[in-house]
Amino acid sequence: MNAESPNIGAPQRPVIRQLSEDAANRIAAGEVVERPASAVKELVENALDAGAQRVDVTYADGGKTLIRVADDGCGMTAADLPLALSRHATSKIDGSDLLNIHSFGFRGEALPSLGAVGRLVISSRAEGFEGAQIAVTGGAIAAVRPAALNRGTVVELRDLFHATPARLKFLRTDRAEAQAIADVMRRLAMAAPYVSFTLRDVSGGEAREIFRTDAEQGELFGALAGRLARVLGRDFADNALPIDAEREGLHLTGFAALPTYSRGAAIEQFLFVNTRPVRDKLLIGALRAAYMDVLSRDRHPAAVLYLACAPELVDVNVHPAKAEVRFRDPALARGLIVSALRHALAGAGHRASTTVAGETLGAMRPEGPRVYQMDRPSGGAIRSAYAWQAPIFAEAPAPFAAAPEPAPEAVNYPLGAARAQLHENWIVAQTADGMVIVDQHAAHERLVYERLKRQMAESGVAAQALLIPEIVELSPADAAR
Ligand SMILES: Nc1ncnc2c1ncn2[C@@H]1O[C@H](COP(=O)(O)OP(=O)(O)OP(=O)(O)O)[C@@H](O)[C@H]1O
Ligand SMILES: [Mg+2]
Repeated sequence: MNAESPNIGAPQRPVIRQLSEDAANRIAAGEVVERPASAVKELVENALDAGAQRVDVTYADGGKTLIRVADDGCGMTAADLPLALSRHATSKIDGSDLLNIHSFGFRGEALPSLGAVGRLVISSRAEGFEGAQIAVTGGAIAAVRPAALNRGTVVELRDLFHATPARLKFLRTDRAEAQAIADVMRRLAMAAPYVSFTLRDVSGGEAREIFRTDAEQGELFGALAGRLARVLGRDFADNALPIDAEREGLHLTGFAALPTYSRGAAIEQFLFVNTRPVRDKLLIGALRAAYMDVLSRDRHPAAVLYLACAPELVDVNVHPAKAEVRFRDPALARGLIVSALRHALAGAGHRASTTVAGETLGAMRPEGPRVYQMDRPSGGAIRSAYAWQAPIFAEAPAPFAAAPEPAPEAVNYPLGAARAQLHENWIVAQTADGMVIVDQHAAHERLVYERLKRQMAESGVAAQALLIPEIVELSPADAAR
């Protein structure tokens, strides 16, 4: 046993101490600022809360040496600046109702936390005031100075985690951290379609634009669609089904991609609750459940879903980075997502992703012209070759069995009209404007699965009492279930 352990052989009682403000900030920072991307998230959220129309983010070396967020929001006065840096000081709530939150921020923790783990300089100017600047390094706040800038705020964070080298070691490569920053930006850009965003990498003194989205115009659904096409690419927009459903005060909108547009990892799942980007387990589980019947286990659906409700129906104060939320009625939220998505997917029938279809067609396109140079065999050689091969052809099974001409309306079925069978497993069917190839074996499994599901829904799991009872031991918690 370790003789140095403070509690062994030490007769003194442990002493309870009040930690300094600085230490408290560093502890809070541990939860709020995990990596450069979390600092970007906090600063961009502050800009959006300040009503910014445009947000420009610059970083260097994956955000480890520099993060700068400039906005044209309401700004702060010289008197506001020291307050913005003190803990639990916020302009966003008055503390009387933690279930009535309409802004990204509400804790008054982000700026003091950032000031505790990096060199932070905030320059800001509010309408009708002179510009001012405040700097804080390792928790030590310098005096407010005048600064020249237009209305808005520029927050510069240098040398993140320089005071906590242990944290620095846990950071990943610049590339990985830069990717995490881009991901945060994409999520926030999808949350605020009417705001323009830019993201630039200035590592090594060279500026590179990573990302730019101009403010969208028009009504919300159209603006969101435009923003998603911009952020996720045309491909997503072309393969996404619009979602719009409402149930008991919860409103779900967004876009869910066709099953054929699924991904190998959960990288294109963007979930928002009252415009706040979240990675909530309940919602992710609901998304998976909605696609369960149409995707194999190793594929991940792509979707962007916005859930909106009265603030009191959801508690956003349950996670240090506000990435998770708690619904007053979790089953309602889950049920709404599952049923709305299933409905949309069922409506899309067998529509296949344009990506897959495009790739398949691309693969079938003839290659460039080929020139064959061959001596023509003589007529005799051809005849003898035919004669030699004829018996083999005659005995070989027909390569495919052609089906009789189908009834004309059959092509309107979701899987079209069966026209041929290949290798005793593949059914080639003709639809009104295309063709479908069905794996007969998989189709049979699917029919059995659907039958079992229907049976279960109608009469529950079929059960029968055992002839000789078997005793099973359960823990009290399992027994209660
Ligand atoms: N870009 C900005 N423009 C205008 N005011 C800002 C900006 N950033 C911060 N502030 C002001 O400083 C205050 C403190 O910001 P901070 O991010 O620390 O806390 P918060 O946003 O209120 O809550 P949270 O800790 O949940 O983010 C804010 O409430 C806001 O009044
Ligand atoms: Mg904030």
